[in-house]
Amino acid sequence: MSASSNAPTVAIVGATGAVGQEFLRLFEERNFIHGDLHLLASARSAGTTTEYRGEQHTITELTEEALQGIDIALFSAGGSISKAYGPTAAAAGATVIDNSSAFRMASEVPLVIPEINGDLAESYRTGDGRGRPGIIANPNCSTIIMMVPLHEVRRRFGLERLVISTYQAVSGAGAAAMRELDAQTRDVLEGREPTREIFARQCAFNVFSHDSKVHPETGRNVEEQKMIDETRKIWGDDHIRVTATCIRVPVMRAHAESINVTLRQPASEAEFRAALEATEGITLVDDREANDFPTPLEASGRDPILVGRVRPDASMPSEGGKHCAFDLFVCGDQIRKGAALNAVQIAERVMGS
Ligand code: A2P
Repeated sequence: MSASSNAPTVAIVGATGAVGQEFLRLFEERNFIHGDLHLLASARSAGTTTEYRGEQHTITELTEEALQGIDIALFSAGGSISKAYGPTAAAAGATVIDNSSAFRMASEVPLVIPEINGDLAESYRTGDGRGRPGIIANPNCSTIIMMVPLHEVRRRFGLERLVISTYQAVSGAGAAAMRELDAQTRDVLEGREPTREIFARQCAFNVFSHDSKVHPETGRNVEEQKMIDETRKIWGDDHIRVTATCIRVPVMRAHAESINVTLRQPASEAEFRAALEATEGITLVDDREANDFPTPLEASGRDPILVGRVRPDASMPSEGGKHCAFDLFVCGDQIRKGAALNAVQIAERVMGS
C-alpha cells in the first residue's frame, strides 16, 4: 500500500490480530500520518484483505524481506515473533515499537507510557520524524491501566506500596480468546457443552486465576510478576512495594482493577482527588449518590482510563484529616490504552507529531 507523501513507511506485524486491527482504527481516528503501510501476518492470512480508510488492503506474509525499508514497525504478534523479527527490523533501520513482553525488561530498551516517561520515546526522534533504529517496548496492559491513574498522585505524595486485584478481559489473550468467550456463552445458553481451546478453564460464566504460568516457588503468575517488575522499571523506583492478584473474568475487552495505594506523605481526600483531577489520560467516574462508578463496558472503545470508588483506606493510619492510604477502582480498554493506543502514542512521540 503506498502513499505519495514523504511520511514514514510503517509496518504492522500482526495486522489481523485484535491489537493489529485496533492500530488501523486508531490510525484513521487520529489521522496518523504515514507513507507506505505494510500489513503483515502469518502465511495463513497472506492474501486475505482487511478494511482500512474505506478500502480493502491485502495482508502479506511476515518475512525478513518484508521488514526492509520500514521506518516504524508496530509489532503485536506475540513474544516469539518479536524475538525472531524485532531485531531484524531494527537492524534494517526501523524503530520497532513492540507490544510483547520480549524486550520489556532489557536494560537498553525503554519501557514507555507516554503520559509518564514519553521523553524516552522522544529521544528516538530524528529531524525527519522517522525515528532512529532501535526497539521501544510497550508495557503490559494491566501495568499501563494501573500506572496512568497514579502518576500525578505519585508525583505529589510519593508511593510506598500498591496492592492490586485485577479483573481482566479475555482480549489480553488475543482475538481467538474473544471468539472463544463469544462461542462459549452461546454454547452455555443453548445447552451445549462449551469447547475450550485458548483457556484451560471455561471463561463464560466463570472467573479464574490468570492463565499465565505460576512460579513454583513464589506462587506469583507471570502477569503478577510483570506488574511488579514493569512498575519499578517505568518509575525507576526499585523500592516501591507492589503485590498483585491477577484474575480473568468473562469480559470482552476492558480490564478492571481494584488498587490500594499507600502514600509516602499522607494526603487529605481533597488533595488526593485534586491530584487525580490533574492526571492526564483518565476520566473520573465517581458519583457516590448515584452509585455510578467505572465499568469495563463503559471503558470499552474509549481512550481514557475510568477512575472511581476513590476513598481513604480506613484500616490504615490517618491524622488531622490526612490519610496514608486510599482505595480506588479503575477500568481501561485493554486493546486500546492497554496496547494499541499506547503504542501509537509512542509512535507519535517518535515522529514528533
Ligand atoms: P494470523 O492471523 O495470520 O495468525 P492476536 O493477538 O489477536 O491473537 O493476534 C496475533 C497476530 O499475530 C495475528 O495477526 C497473527 O496472524 C499474527 N501471527 C501469529 N503467528 C504469526 C507468525 N508465525 N508470523 C506472523 N504473524 C503471526
